[in-house]
This record gives sequence, structure tokens and C-alpha cells, in this order.
Amino acid sequence: MPKQLIVAIDGPSGAGKSTLSKALAQRTGYTNIDTGAMYRSVALLASRRQIDPANEAALGSLCEDLAIDFIREGDRERVIVNGEDVSDAIRTPEVSLLTSRVAACPAVREAMVDLQRKMGEAGGVVLEGRDIGTVVFPQAQVKFFLSATAEERGRRRYEELRAKGLDVDLQQTIAEVEARDAADSAREHAPLKQAADAVVIDSTRMSIDAVLEEMVRIIARRREEVME
Ligand code: DC
Repeated sequence: MPKQLIVAIDGPSGAGKSTLSKALAQRTGYTNIDTGAMYRSVALLASRRQIDPANEAALGSLCEDLAIDFIREGDRERVIVNGEDVSDAIRTPEVSLLTSRVAACPAVREAMVDLQRKMGEAGGVVLEGRDIGTVVFPQAQVKFFLSATAEERGRRRYEELRAKGLDVDLQQTIAEVEARDAADSAREHAPLKQAADAVVIDSTRMSIDAVLEEMVRIIARRREEVME
């Protein structure tokens, strides 16, 4: 049993996972692993190399020479892929859509899950994704499933993209969130699914701070139980 916990945060896009896992990592001193950024990085490279997202063999070999690092610069987290800072490039709507397709490919999931297990097995990590509590670390001591209505999640994504100066449309952003939800939940391999032992938090009408405090309380309680 690792001395430090493995904290899994799953849920659909826009439920607040990124903000909350970064804030939790800062509060606990744990390392934050954004697994969505890993799948996004695969999609970005696939698009640059003009790999067809249906070409599993090509995607699998792309994953073999992929080095992903997360570095913290003040309160910003940067994603470095093969030495290049791709933090902004992986967040465009085009890459988001392509990521859903790439993330459905078994060879890609296998490679990413392996990497995630290596990064997290020693504990002291907060991993956010879709399949952390069900597939990557079913033995995680703390599992959260964050949710919110599709409309609220679309609105949050819209605000985020606008703040970055991107010219996006609210209704279209909500539609994209719904399309990605459907693809992520319906795919054959590791679909978005709540772990039976996850703590479910619906953040539709809760402030980020209120959710954060609840999560911190639950982690502290689990830490005491595990260390007893
Ligand atoms: O969390 P995000 O929006 O950055 O995720 C991007 C895409 O990657 C989304 O379509 C779901 C997929 N994903 C996944 O399949 N498994 C994960 N563990 C994390 C993300």
C-alpha cells in the first residue's frame, strides 16, 4: 500500500475536473496527471502527421515514440511532448473532436494506460480522466465522479475558450460537449462509466470552492482510514 494516496477524478468534459484536480494537487502537494492532455497530445501528433484516426497500427506506433511531461510554472501547468510545449495547441476545438476518435483506439488506450500506471503507481497523485477509477487504478483509495448538466458544462467550456481569445459560439460549444459525451460513453473500449465505489459530486449549482472543500474533507478522512 503506497504511503500517499492515489486520487482518481473521473467525469464528462466540463464538469470541473481540470480546475479541481489542479487545485487539489496544490492543496495536498500531490502531482496532477491530466490524462485527457495525454490523449489530446496523441491526437495533435496524429493530425500533424496526417494519420487517419481509423489506422490503429499507425496510431500505436506513434504512441511508442511519445514522451509526455507535465511541468508546473507557477500556477500554470504545461504539457511537453517530445520537448515541445503543446499546452495551447491541444486545446483547440479541432483537436478536441479528433481526440474522441483517437481515444477510442485500443492501441492508444493500452499505451496511455501503461504510461499512467507508471506515473501514478507510487501514490501521491491526482489523476483526472474518464476511466481512472474503473480501469487505470481500480484500487485507488479515493475516487470521485464529477458531473454537471451538459448545458452548464458547455457554458463553462465556452467561457474558457473565450477567455483564451478564441472566437466560439455558445450553442455550438454545448453541441460539441454533447457529441463528445455521446462518443465517450458509447465507445467499446473503456467508456466513460462511474465506478461503483466513487463519490459522486454534481457541480451544476455548486461553486468550485465548495466542491474543492468537500473533496479535501473526503481525502483527509480516507487518508486517516488508510494510515490506521
Ligand atoms: O478531459 P479532456 O476534455 O481533456 O479529454 C479529452 C478527450 O480524451 C475526451 O474526448 C475524452 C478522452 N479521454 C479518455 O478517453 N480517457 C481519459 N482517461 C481521458 C480523456
